[in-house]
Amino acid sequence: MKILGIESSCDDTSISIIDDKKNIIANDIISQNQIHKNYKGIVPELAARNHVLFIDKILTNILKKNNFKFTDIDLISATVGPGLIGGLLVGLTFAKTLSQVNRIPFVGVNHLEGHALTARLTNSVEYPFLLLLVSGGHSNFYFISEVNKYEFLGGTLDDALGEAFDKVGNILGLSFPGGPQLEIMAKKGNYKNINLPKPLINEKNLDMSFSGLKTAVINIRKKLIENDSICGADIAASFQKSVADILCRKISLAIDVSLKKYDYFENVVVSGGVAANNYLRTKLKKTVELKNKTIFFPPPKLCTDNGAMIAWAGFELYKKGVTTNLNIQAKPRWPLEKIGDRI
Ligand code: KG4
Ligand code: ZN
Repeated sequence: MKILGIESSCDDTSISIIDDKKNIIANDIISQNQIHKNYKGIVPELAARNHVLFIDKILTNILKKNNFKFTDIDLISATVGPGLIGGLLVGLTFAKTLSQVNRIPFVGVNHLEGHALTARLTNSVEYPFLLLLVSGGHSNFYFISEVNKYEFLGGTLDDALGEAFDKVGNILGLSFPGGPQLEIMAKKGNYKNINLPKPLINEKNLDMSFSGLKTAVINIRKKLIENDSICGADIAASFQKSVADILCRKISLAIDVSLKKYDYFENVVVSGGVAANNYLRTKLKKTVELKNKTIFFPPPKLCTDNGAMIAWAGFELYKKGVTTNLNIQAKPRWPLEKIGDRI
């Protein structure tokens, strides 16, 4: 089978073709970073307009490059939500139209589900598994029993982690999105020079909070502004260290919680844009292995938004007998654990 996946929930327009043997035949992504960086964040209206500009060109290009016609595609899947409504409408309407005109089955995918299942496309991760999803819009723990069966265990009470990385990056003078550059900047700094808080780290639950950490960075930056570059790198290093300590403590707790609730599980998956961060990957790996569990991360390029993860989730659902009626509407809010209204 060949599966077409379409992702347009935020500022990346991506279309991918994968097959049922887990080969990623194409995964083209047009990033809008250059457009949104002038505004230090994503402007939804501009994002939607640019999805319209690029989406058909990406498709034409990947079909041509791989010498495919529509008759070669067996399944179409697209992100239904959650995300920015303008972008969702573009990708979903495009997918529904392709499905109807070419009489190809359609599966609507939850964006978080795409991130959740990517590691099963790239690695042999068996169900069930514990998931830490850390992206620009979400920072949550879930227990994934099987496809379409997701339980929310806990997560951030305020900012998502990617959002905090981007805002701290902005305070440190980095261009949007700050996350990847903050990781590079942190390598030149020493976390011991700056003391930042670790909100909720000692709470015996899976609540997290990153907004106070961001405010602490603003306050420290104000005090140290004269010293400039060295202190910026120290702040970045200290921010990353605080985040790593929080995530490691909470993932360890999430393993304990999951062991109490479920008979057995072996695997832990960390995915979403922030999971591309190598420093965090190393720290989380060590922590999870000390708890005798196996950790998986998608490759960095598939941690951030992409069409391949949507194609794969669509394929897993299709194998379970799920197809989606073409009258499904885009869902700007759609918690992963409330997936039941997909069909
Ligand atoms: O998953 P994603 O592409 O989009 C959402 O679903 O939100 O995640 C984007 C987020 C951005 O906030 C970006 O700064 C962050 O992931 N990110 C990183 C890194 N690469 C991407 N954060 C920290 N370190 C990185 N290396
Ligand atoms: Zn995402």
